[in-house]
Amino acid sequence: MSDIVRFSVSLENDLLDEFDRFCKEENFATRSEAVRQMIREMLTGRAWESGETEVAGTLTLVYDHHRPQLRDRMIALQHKHHDLVVSTLHTHLTHDLCLEVIVLRGRADKLRQIATQLKGMKGIRKGELVMAAAPVHAHS
Ligand code: NI
Repeated sequence: MSDIVRFSVSLENDLLDEFDRFCKEENFATRSEAVRQMIREMLTGRAWESGETEVAGTLTLVYDHHRPQLRDRMIALQHKHHDLVVSTLHTHLTHDLCLEVIVLRGRADKLRQIATQLKGMKGIRKGELVMAAAPVHAHS
């Protein structure tokens, strides 16, 4: 971790009250912890917009496995992008529904692209992509 620096922020009383309530509800140990996470999320979000950032992500899909050819099409697309797909977790949710979590890694724009294609398939009930920055030369 790099050196910690302090900086001060000026804001209205009621906004600070609201922020403190938020910190308590979200179980942040300190205001700094909350601010750090918000800044990280904001900066990561901005980096994704450029699309060139290396990220890791999960795509969670809920789908009807009775839908003809859906699984075949999902698998074919994942094989086509095998360089992005790290692994998958499959759970038989109910008699009709499957839950699949696909772990992805690669350029943010590529991840978004494959996620959009999978989410758009007929028979997919729900799809959500969550991404986190995953720099190649990360220091711990
Ligand atoms: Ni299943």
